[in-house]
Amino acid sequence: MFCLRSILLLGSCLSLACADLRADLMAAHVESVFSEDAKYPNASAAFNLRFEFHPAAVTYPTSEQQVSEIVKIGKKNNVPVVARSGGHSYIANGIGGRDGSLVVDVMHLKRIDFNKTTNVASVGTGNRNGDIAQALVALGRDVSHGTCPYVGLGGHVTYGGYGYASRIWGLALDDIVGMDAVLPDGSVVKTSDHEHQDIYWALRGAGGSFGIVTTMHFRTHEIPKAATTYRFNWILDVEKSISVLLAYQNASARPDLPNELGIRHELRRGLYPGTVNHSLTGTWNGPADQFYAILDRFLKHYPEPVDSYVHNGTYFESLIYHSDKGTLNTTNPDDHDTFYAKSLATPQDYLLTEEAITKFVHVVANQGQSTTTGWFIQIELWGSKNSAINAFAYNHTSFVLRNTLFVMQFYASSHDKKPPFPQEGFEFLDNAVGSMTSTMPKGWEWSAYTDYIDGNLTTTNWQHLYYGKNYRRLQELKREYDPNFIFGKFPTGIEL
Ligand SMILES: Cc1cc2nc3c(=O)[nH]c(=O)nc-3n(C[C@H](O)[C@H](O)[C@H](O)COP(=O)(O)OP(=O)(O)OC[C@H]3O[C@@H](n4cnc5c(N)ncnc54)[C@H](O)[C@@H]3O)c2cc1C
Ligand SMILES: *[C@@H]1O[C@H](CO)[C@@H](O)[C@H](O)[C@H]1NC(C)=O
Ligand SMILES: *[C@@H]1O[C@H](CO)[C@@H](O)[C@H](O)[C@H]1NC(C)=O
Ligand SMILES: *[C@@H]1O[C@H](CO)[C@@H](O)[C@H](O)[C@H]1NC(C)=O
Ligand SMILES: *[C@@H]1O[C@H](CO)[C@@H](O)[C@H](O)[C@H]1NC(C)=O
Ligand SMILES: *[C@@H]1O[C@H](CO)[C@@H](O)[C@H](O)[C@H]1NC(C)=O
Ligand SMILES: *[C@@H]1O[C@H](CO)[C@@H](O)[C@H](O)[C@H]1NC(C)=O
Ligand SMILES: *[C@@H]1O[C@H](CO)[C@@H](O)[C@H](O)[C@H]1NC(C)=O
Ligand SMILES: *[C@@H]1O[C@H](CO)[C@@H](O)[C@H](O)[C@H]1NC(C)=O
Repeated sequence: MFCLRSILLLGSCLSLACADLRADLMAAHVESVFSEDAKYPNASAAFNLRFEFHPAAVTYPTSEQQVSEIVKIGKKNNVPVVARSGGHSYIANGIGGRDGSLVVDVMHLKRIDFNKTTNVASVGTGNRNGDIAQALVALGRDVSHGTCPYVGLGGHVTYGGYGYASRIWGLALDDIVGMDAVLPDGSVVKTSDHEHQDIYWALRGAGGSFGIVTTMHFRTHEIPKAATTYRFNWILDVEKSISVLLAYQNASARPDLPNELGIRHELRRGLYPGTVNHSLTGTWNGPADQFYAILDRFLKHYPEPVDSYVHNGTYFESLIYHSDKGTLNTTNPDDHDTFYAKSLATPQDYLLTEEAITKFVHVVANQGQSTTTGWFIQIELWGSKNSAINAFAYNHTSFVLRNTLFVMQFYASSHDKKPPFPQEGFEFLDNAVGSMTSTMPKGWEWSAYTDYIDGNLTTTNWQHLYYGKNYRRLQELKREYDPNFIFGKFPTGIEL
């Protein structure tokens, strides 16, 4: 009867199939939450409250064998299966990106093993960035990862993983040496350069379409001996805003910029119309006494900052600072948000023109004032020549962004971080991106970043923007491994 209600409400779970799904999960002793359960609203809530989807069930396996059984149960009952790790997908792809999915929440897969001989860390995908960083830094080591402690490894690593050490170490997925995964047919496999190479290739860039990763094996790095954490702030008018952005790009593109520099330029609402709040922030992972010599390549083109913070300290202190939470501890659930986000990756061999930057600054100085949303735009430095990210060929993994100067992230939240999200918020961000993409000359090719996933790109050539020249091979592998979409048809998922 409850299942009948779910048919009416959700239109996704046929009554018999729904009863069978529950019976099958119970027989397999899988902890599961269904729509009639008190825990369902919380278990099915997306991080981004702009999205509200109704999964057929949310499951919490305790082993990779259970993950395998759930995949087989989903297949048998014709219910698409989807993995959720940290649940931080911008468009709720961790609950399937639409109604009716069988969610496999890997939160119980929390093991972290470190092999002292090989320095390889084997980490369950129930861990978050904060968990792995705390465990590894205690051993004097770490892997490349982003700044937010609550982001889950399952999505973060299979779709990229950028942080302030990425110019030295590469993206999080470049630190992978193997992944254990459950495939669409329910088989449990170890993938690496030596086993199941094609799936291994696909998992590093398009994970959700190919497998449920249970354990990730990472090479680890000795942490930098010192780390200088910094932030400089300015409020600038339109003209100065244009000149500092040009200078930022110019200094960023220099081929001799050391890879120990992690940096991004942030834009926020200015104090009054016609102004923009700018920051330069990041971490210098090199010797402290070289910090100002390197930062001066940027700062000498900027006015005197209104305020600044510079701390000569440790790598761990830098992670804490950039977490914005004062801790990497992920014990308390993360706050939800109601937001729209977009990305724009720029090629490192074709810089943004002054005209494109000028149009962009006019949008952020004007529409960025009038919007009711709270917003930020981050211009992350992924290049240039010395960057480890760009040391790989475009097809080394299925993650295609290997010739990028900047990844820009555009992010706007409703004024109280609760629904609804205003229409003018979409228009503001669409204009901010469009001001550049429509102004740049023909021949300039932009891309987008899969970890800052934008459901609205599906109205354009998203396959090319997200996967570029790797898309065709991904399609071939999809046809080979998952032609019946056991892993669902979620927005921006690989198609046949
Ligand atoms: C506050 C915040 C800060 C962020 N900061 C950064 C940053 O500094 N750098 C950066 O690069 N990105 C950053 N991101 C983006 C983040 O990397 C992505 O949102 C990421 O995909 C989230 O992963 P998740 O496991 O938490 O999400 P989920 O919603 O659980 O999953 C996202 C996608 O991955 C798939 N997936 C999840 N688990 C698995 C698994 N075990 N196996 C296979 N597929 C799986 C899901 O099905 C879904 O398609 C940030 C996001 C937020 C919300
Ligand atoms: C909601 O779910 C999260 C995990 O997704 C859990 O940490 C939290 O305790 C739950 N909250 C409630 C009130 O059940
Ligand atoms: C560490 O890795 C080495 C080499 O692969 C292996 O021989 C050894 O058994 C591993 N140690 C542990 C504790 O797993
Ligand atoms: C760009 O960088 C070069 C090399 O540092 C410098 O000589 C030049 O002045 C810079 N131009 C601008 C517009 O900042
Ligand atoms: C600019 O924005 C930052 C980040 O929100 C804030 O800390 C700072 O105070 C702002 N600067 C000014 C001068 O308003
Ligand atoms: C940075 O801190 C270390 C340790 O406290 C100290 O030895 C060193 O002199 C400092 N360097 C600079 C440039 O401040
Ligand atoms: C994380 O925070 C919780 C609650 O505040 C605390 O009990 C726990 O000991 C902390 N864990 C670590 C590793 O600091
Ligand atoms: C990448 O593409 C090149 C040709 O462009 C090819 O020779 C090479 O084998 C490919 N590498 C992988 C890992 O597929
Ligand atoms: C796309 O943008 C429109 C507004 O232009 C909005 O209503 C819709 O929710 C957006 N879709 C996604 C998937 O973000």
